[in-house]
Order: sequence, then C-alpha cells, then structure tokens
Amino acid sequence: MYRTNNCGELKISDVGKTVTLAGWVQKIRNKGFLIWIDLRDRYGITQLIINSEKSSKKVIDSVKDIGREFVIQVEGEVIKREAINKNIPTGEIEILVTEINILNSSKVPPFTIENETDGGEELRMKYRYLDLRRPALKDNIIFRNELTFQVRKYLKEEGFIDIETPYLIKSTPEGARDFVVPSRINPGEFYALPQSPQTFKQLLMVSGFDKYVQIVKCFRDEDLRADRQPEFTQIDCEMSFVNQEDILNTFEGLVKNLFKVCIGASLEKFDRISYADAMELYGSDKPDTRFGMKFLNLSEKAKGSGFKIFDSSESIYAFTIENGESFSRKDIDYYTDWVKRPQIGALGLIWIKHNQDGSVKSSVDKFFNEKQLKSMTGSKAGDLTFIISGDKKKTLTQLGSLRIHVGEKLGLRDKNKFNALWVTDFPMFEWDEEAKRYHAMHHPFTSPVKNTIGEDPGSTLANAYDLVINGNEIGGGSIRIHDQKLQEEVFSILGFSKKEAFDQFGFLLEAFTYGAPPHGGIAFGLDRLAAVMKGEESIRDYIAFPKNNSGRDVMIDSPSIIDKDQLDDLNIKIK
Ligand code: AMO
Repeated sequence: MYRTNNCGELKISDVGKTVTLAGWVQKIRNKGFLIWIDLRDRYGITQLIINSEKSSKKVIDSVKDIGREFVIQVEGEVIKREAINKNIPTGEIEILVTEINILNSSKVPPFTIENETDGGEELRMKYRYLDLRRPALKDNIIFRNELTFQVRKYLKEEGFIDIETPYLIKSTPEGARDFVVPSRINPGEFYALPQSPQTFKQLLMVSGFDKYVQIVKCFRDEDLRADRQPEFTQIDCEMSFVNQEDILNTFEGLVKNLFKVCIGASLEKFDRISYADAMELYGSDKPDTRFGMKFLNLSEKAKGSGFKIFDSSESIYAFTIENGESFSRKDIDYYTDWVKRPQIGALGLIWIKHNQDGSVKSSVDKFFNEKQLKSMTGSKAGDLTFIISGDKKKTLTQLGSLRIHVGEKLGLRDKNKFNALWVTDFPMFEWDEEAKRYHAMHHPFTSPVKNTIGEDPGSTLANAYDLVINGNEIGGGSIRIHDQKLQEEVFSILGFSKKEAFDQFGFLLEAFTYGAPPHGGIAFGLDRLAAVMKGEESIRDYIAFPKNNSGRDVMIDSPSIIDKDQLDDLNIKIK
C-alpha cells in the first residue's frame, strides 16, 4: 500500500497513529537538528518532522538528497504540533518520520508551486502540468468537476438524456469561423468541427428524444478574449413540446440549484429584461445589474441650447454616479481619456457635478445654466453625471463600457453578490452595413416571436433569450423553427438562395417534413459559468489545458506544421 492516508485529512484525533503518506515536497526547512517538510497532494499539505534525536540516521541521511517537488513516501507517527497552523486543516498535527522512501526525484521547478507564484503566465502555460499542482488552480479543476456532476445529476432527475453528437461535421452557422479537418479518403473535402451541436440536437427532437443534454466541446475560430477560448465546453440542452416560459423555468431551476449546491449561494428569482431595454438602460445586452447607474436618455432635453456637439448628435445618453462629487478633475480627465481610447472610440465625455452646496459645475457651463443642468439630469446634491452623445448605437455601447469601468473602479462589482437575469426579445436579424445583408442575431434556426416575419425583417423579434450573470453572457438559446416553409424564408432573408439553403441544410429542411415537434433549447458556457461562480471573468484557469491569447498550446506546441507525406496523403499543398 502506497499510503494509509492522504495529506489533507489527519487531525488531532489521529495523534498516536502510525501512518504512511505519499506526495510531493512543497518546502523543506532545515534547522540542523530539526527538519520540516511540507508534503503536498491533491487533498492538502501535511507537515513532516525529522528530529535528529528521534529519527534514524538512515532517515536523516536520505533527507539530504531531497529537493522541492520530489515524490516521496514516508512512514511515521502522528504527533501534536507545537506551533499550530490554523490556516490548514492538518495544522494541529505533524508526522514524526521513521521511514523515507524517495519515489522519484525532480528537477528544480521553473517557478514556485504555490498560490503566490513567481512564474509568469507564458512559463506556467508551458509547464501547465506543474501549474495544475498549485492549490488555487487544482481547486478550480475540482470545482469544475463538481459543477458538471451536479448538472448531470439535476438534469437526469428532470428526465434529460445525455446523447453524444459527432465532432466531424459540416459547417454550422453560429457566427464564427469554422475549424476544418481535411478528409484523406475524400480528397479535397473537409469536415468542420462543430461550433455547437445545434442542428444535431434539433434532429434528436425530430427523432423523439424530447429532453436532450450534452456536456460538449465546441470549436470556434474567433478572436480570443478573457472569456473566450477556441475550444470551450457547453452544457447543451434541447426540449420538445415547450414554449419559452417552460425553458426559462426549467433552466432557472438548474442554475439556482447549481449555485446552491456548489457554492451555497441562493439566487433570487431571475429578473427579465428585453434586449431593447437592456441597451437603452445599460448600453449592453449583458448588463451587470449588481449596481444601478441606469442610463437617462437626454436626446430631447439636451438639444437646442446652441451646443453644437449635442445639437448635431442623433442621441445623448447619461448616467449618474451617486456621491460622484468626490471625483477630482484628475479623475474626470482619466475617464475622459479612457472613453477616447480607440477601443471605446468616444469623441469626448461631458460631465455635470452637483455639489453639496447646491451649486452645479459642468464642462458645458457655457451652454446651460444651473437650473437647466439640474432639470436635465434630475440630479441631487453629491451626484456626478457623465454624458456621451453621437450615433445612437455607438453612444449606448460606449457609455455602457464606461458604466462597467466606473462600477469596477468604485468596487461595485462585488464578487460575492450574484445577479442573474434573462434578456429576452432579441431582434431576429441584424443589418450588416458593410456586407449589405442581414445576419441572424442568434442563429438561423431561431423562430420569430409571432411565428411569422413581419414586413420589416429588421424589426422582427425573435423567440430568443440569454442568461446573464454579473454582466457575463452565461447562456443563450431560443425556440426553434420547426416548419420547413418558415425555415426556408429565414434562409432567404439571410441571403441564401434556395439551392444554397438545401445544399447546406437540406438534411434539416427535409427532417422538418417528417413530423418535427415544436422544440427549443439553450446552451450554457460551462467554462464561463464556473469562472463567474467563483467571481472571476477569465475562463482560462477553469480549463485544465487552455490555449493562450494567440490560440496556441505552448506546452505541446500546437498548432504546428505537418510533414510533406502527411500533406500529400491529404492532397494538400501549402500556399
Ligand atoms: P451561443 O453561441 O450563445 O449559443 O453559445 C452558448 C454559450 O456558450 C458560451 N460561449 C463560449 N464560451 C467560451 N468561449 C467561447 N468562444 C464561447 N462562445 C460561446 C457562452 C454562450 O452563452 N447553439 C446555440 C445554443 C442554442 O441555441 O441552444 C449556441 O451555441 O456562455
């Protein structure tokens, strides 16, 4: 037997027992006559003590050879510790070592394997297997496992069936580029890796599996961000004979349960907000509602004073920061510069400060008197209002970004507070001015609210919904089209000719002619959900082997070139 116990479980009640432990050497402190070793495994850290008076010469000699990250096995007696460490569960005991067996040596690791490590990101990614030894990262991976287990448990009890769908498929239009895989036995032809199992889960509904779930890898070739990986995991679900309300209720239940059992948080009933209101009030389709600072539309009120910037703007929007009076000129300049950066792209930032003494100061003093400024914003003493104007959509998103940044700086994005909401009533289509065509805002299989597309496709609303938690898009789904004619119409609005639609999605259109039930579903980003539940926005540390910002796995050095024979086999020539 390699071990009788793990490194995280021995307590004061175990004093007197003879135990065998195995693990990695985290730290050695050598005081000559006393040597301490912190022994680490998945479960925790246990302190070992080697005493020159009580331990054998053999033990003392073998300690000399041991370094950090050596794998050792020790036998010894559990004894009460003199200096108790309250920070760890095993902090009241230590092991008086009687035997040491070196199971494997280790080179000096390239960074310290502790939560506060000295290793930079790139180095840790190269040695990800060492990075995963760090308790913080290890705990994230264990947490993710608990999360997926609870998802399966809950949905199984709700009658969902887990069904796998293929990875070598044909392109699905989810809005990103596909990763493609050349086929050797079909020269010149390619598979696409699924951006999601969307069409397959719909086909499973046609097959009669009325409640489907799959925890599944999805692949999207898109620009990477903290919350985006080229391969990520969805909790992918679909149901038949349901309307939007059924889906929202079912999955609100799932998400509440996950928060309760995994982190002990009880979520309030999820708020609902339409896409239009989310944009109008927060400048985002994934608003962080942990704090206020809702927008005011000043487009009417602020025009006509002779201030050219306002008078010539399509829209003027503002939000007010309570107690923002304390912002200095330097602070305001900082936010002004912040919104003017190319990433945000605002032309400037107008401010109005309502002082405690009732006076008002503003960057547009010349054009508005105090009374006008007060009535325009409805502010009270102590308030600071920020205003951006210009093209409506841009103004809203710019002010939305500023709102989040101010919220962050003011500490209003409390990690221990969770606010979940459903965003509903998305537009079906989004007009792409450059390409002069419509795109599906969700995906082309989403049904319109009234099951028909109005005169103006641009103003037709979709039966689609997103789950947003703390300003992160955690999930999205829709009630689907199950009628062939309507599906064809949507493809045609999206610019597919009848032939193109049939070439690409003939299998689905045909399936709809064999008794497709009304159906709908949702998919949650598992990586995002895990990170957000732990109060973080970057998903990388919730994935055992993630890619870096350039989509590379620097540990295995991928992507990489392949040799000529392999290319020849695939009938491929590199340009
Ligand atoms: P959607 O494209 O909204 O919907 O994706 C669902 C959820 O997956 C997560 N997600 C990502 N997570 C990490 N990295 C990425 N690159 C990434 N892209 C998306 C998000 C998102 O909300 N087939 C539809 C679902 C449906 O209609 O049922 C779909 O894939 O959390």
